[in-house]
Amino acid sequence: MSKKIRAAVLGLGRLGYWHAVNVVTRIRNAELAAICDVDMETAKRVATELEVPFFTSDPEDILKDDTIGVMIIASPTSTHFDLLKKASEAGKSIFVEKPLTIDLSEANEIKRIIEYDNTICQVGFMRRFDPAYVAAKNRINAGDIGDPIYFRGISRDPHSPHEAFIQHSGGMFVDVSIHDFDIARYLMNSEVTSVHAHGRILKYPFMEKYQDVDQSLTYLEFSSGAAGDAEASRNAHYGYDIRGEVIGTEGSIFIGNLRNHDIQILTKSGNLHDILPDFPTRFTDAYHLELASFFQVVEGRGIPSVTVDDGIKALEIAFAARESYQTGKKVELNSLYLW
Ligand SMILES: NC(=O)c1ccc[n+]([C@@H]2O[C@H](COP(=O)([O-])OP(=O)(O)OC[C@H]3O[C@@H](n4cnc5c(N)ncnc54)[C@H](O)[C@@H]3O)[C@@H](O)[C@H]2O)c1
Repeated sequence: MSKKIRAAVLGLGRLGYWHAVNVVTRIRNAELAAICDVDMETAKRVATELEVPFFTSDPEDILKDDTIGVMIIASPTSTHFDLLKKASEAGKSIFVEKPLTIDLSEANEIKRIIEYDNTICQVGFMRRFDPAYVAAKNRINAGDIGDPIYFRGISRDPHSPHEAFIQHSGGMFVDVSIHDFDIARYLMNSEVTSVHAHGRILKYPFMEKYQDVDQSLTYLEFSSGAAGDAEASRNAHYGYDIRGEVIGTEGSIFIGNLRNHDIQILTKSGNLHDILPDFPTRFTDAYHLELASFFQVVEGRGIPSVTVDDGIKALEIAFAARESYQTGKKVELNSLYLW
């Protein structure tokens, strides 16, 4: 077997930790050569647990190490721009978590840099690798439900992430709904042309400080003439609830459900099943498969299946939704396209 690709994970929080675990345990052509977290204790703890040979709190240590070919960026969204820019200029291949950047001008600058440096860069829209969403996509493309005419997305977190995360997340539309905006474009085979969004704080008053909301609804119109909606919530205290539906002219596809293990518990008081608790559980396979696909590209096979352009398109929809929520008006996307 040829030499393994030496990779580093930056940011070892709620998600970066799982990317590190996946590189160590499930990606056959990669090795986790280094990890980085600005919190040295976190870096040390994860390095010890996963037996990673090098850990640091300074991203520069990774950037200047020419033996490391891949950077997996899973630090807060507000840090993506700087790390992406430096990683591309240092000649690394990059996997970056969604959202690509915290604002659109940064995203467009990254597109320019990545193209100039000819850098491999994949964005972490993992739903595109989730077996249920993939099956839905294949059925739609096979014509099983006719022409897609309505998209519905539900993305509910069991609770709000910690306050520092919210502060650097870009807000509900940029952080959460962006998953539905991306998968909507993908499943509907059509671009979003306008959005009309609403939002409220129902449970977490601290969000007002960041002009954020914990519940939102975005109505979408597509260039094909189709329509849709995307609900996002931080208030699903019962579990992690990700569902979707595509209605076509000849049928409908439901995607996802709440069930965790495939068991039912029957007692006199009712019929129970356990509920998915969090994103690492719901998207275990998707997080593995997106990295496996990325490392194949780094090895020279194919091109990234979720590109910087996809990252920008989804961000444009998210920013239009945020503007619509703030102004109370429908926002056309054409006015926002910057490239
Ligand atoms: N695809 C998904 O399903 C999904 C799920 C969760 C988070 N995310 C994305 O992943 C990113 C991280 O989110 P999270 O929930 O893991 O955040 P988190 O706050 O749990 O963890 C972030 C970690 O990054 C570290 N960090 C901060 N600045 C850094 C820097 N410059 N270099 C290296 N490390 C740094 C922090 O100390 C922390 O340990 C965000 O962009 C978020 O949108 C994606």
